[in-house]
Amino acid sequence: MKVVAGPSSPLLAKRVADLLNVQLLNATFRRFPDGELYVKIEGLEDETVIVQSINSNDDLVYLLLMLDAASNTEITAVIPYMGYSRQDRAFKEGEAVSIRAVARLIESYADKVISVNLHSREAASHFKKLVEIDAMPLVGKHFADKDVVMISPDEGSYERVKVAAKAAGCFFDYMEKRRVDADKVEISPKEVDVSGKEVVIVDDIISTGSTVVEAAKMLMDSGASEVRAACVHAVLASYALNKLFSSGIQEVIATDTVERQISVISVAEEIAQLISR
Ligand code: R5P
Repeated sequence: MKVVAGPSSPLLAKRVADLLNVQLLNATFRRFPDGELYVKIEGLEDETVIVQSINSNDDLVYLLLMLDAASNTEITAVIPYMGYSRQDRAFKEGEAVSIRAVARLIESYADKVISVNLHSREAASHFKKLVEIDAMPLVGKHFADKDVVMISPDEGSYERVKVAAKAAGCFFDYMEKRRVDADKVEISPKEVDVSGKEVVIVDDIISTGSTVVEAAKMLMDSGASEVRAACVHAVLASYALNKLFSSGIQEVIATDTVERQISVISVAEEIAQLISR
């Protein structure tokens, strides 16, 4: 078995290869003057683990070309962050179900697909060969020795924060929207009183940061002494980190499914365990 690192996941691929004690293959990634992409992988044998998150359209095309380059081998496609998962259904008539298109593309090459916290059950349902890792226990463990309360910014993330809080051994809650009158909506934790408490907002994805910033404002207004944010996938579009820190959030942490400076938690062991099983 050999591991190949895609351009979006070099560190995580190295960590996985080291844990499996297998070789990381040499690969070339290039862009032609017209913008087209090129991939060459050296030393392919009978079994290939490709590690490449999809956090941009280039990431997706590089993944497709890597899958093709390795197509004479048995392929495990490790896609730590599965972009396009949020378009998991046709919300309006005529819309593409983006994750279905991506799933069909990947599974036409890969023998097995490993990913981390797809955005929804619906998104995962479009795959036939997918094994999914839940990184929420790792997020929780990061706060295990700290006296915090974990809050999910919406009810949809309630199950996620529950898992993280169990691993952290702390209280948890979710933000609830209340309509005060025709013009005013209040968002606050449903039950837990956060005044004087250190709060961690837990979400699966931080993209523009708007969700977390909005939740942080409410928590600060409700008297939280300190607000931090933790997520699995640090997509961080549109200068999200600037927005997060200037809103008064003390710390933002994430896993390495998208490799960022704030990626202080690694999912490498979970991936290596699944591959060696
Ligand atoms: C939404 O359903 C997700 O769980 C995240 O809350 C959302 O993707 C975050 O996006 P943004 O950072 O752009 O607010």
